[in-house]
Amino acid sequence: MLTINKLNFSYGDMQVLWNIDLAVHEGEIVTVVGANGSGKSTTLKNISRLVAPQSGNIDFQGENINSLESHQVVERGLVQVPEGRKIFPEMTVLENLRMGSFIKSARPTREANVERVFTMFPRLKERQKQLGGTMSGGEQQMLAIARGLMTNPKLLLLDEPSLGLSPLFVKIIFEIIQEINKQGVTILLVEQNVFQSLKISDRAYVLETGRIVLSGTGSELLSNDHVKKAFLGM
Ligand SMILES: Nc1ncnc2c1ncn2[C@@H]1O[C@H](COP(=O)(O)OP(=O)(O)OP(=O)(O)O)[C@@H](O)[C@H]1O
Ligand SMILES: [Mg+2]
Repeated sequence: MLTINKLNFSYGDMQVLWNIDLAVHEGEIVTVVGANGSGKSTTLKNISRLVAPQSGNIDFQGENINSLESHQVVERGLVQVPEGRKIFPEMTVLENLRMGSFIKSARPTREANVERVFTMFPRLKERQKQLGGTMSGGEQQMLAIARGLMTNPKLLLLDEPSLGLSPLFVKIIFEIIQEINKQGVTILLVEQNVFQSLKISDRAYVLETGRIVLSGTGSELLSNDHVKKAFLGM
């Protein structure tokens, strides 16, 4: 579904991604784990076309998307939920959700999608009239994911969805990611919560200072000595 070949990327003259090869097959949950500053968010930004690579290819569903703009990849079903939530604080929960259906192809299914995400996130339904900015951190994270679903994504990119959440919310978020995946959405996840994310992942990649140093199935990486030492404190 998504194939990245020899992706190189620099901010100015600072190269931060080196020859990244990465694939996501339809139906999978794939995770990229790595320390702070290793290039996880930058990788997602290259995929969702928020930044442009220096070299290398990014293909989505057989089409090279290197030269597309970010709204064009959203129209093709490739949607990123950004790090740090970025909901509209002055709009209600319901207005935030409706804003998610900004692309033409998502408008006919807008109200059906509101119902769908309210079923998935009962708390958003209860708080639909509340201003986004007054929701708790975990609730805003749910809202950001729910808003991403309003565009009918085929591939959802999630940047650290569990960041800053209490253990209970972390558990809920990981259950929801699995539920979204069961409903037919392929997931590319970036996470610091290495244990939880590897547990739910079909496959995963380890990124270190801009290079992929390991890849394998979630369970292979969970039992890998390097992963255990570097990320699991074992
Ligand atoms: N806009 C920018 N301009 C210059 N350098 C940047 C910019 N954004 C990120 N970087 C640098 O690129 C490198 C990779 O950053 P990136 O945000 O991709 O890391 P990350 O793996 O997502 O980290 P974190 O876990 O802290 O979110 C870092 O060294 C960072 O300082
Ligand atoms: Mg990041």
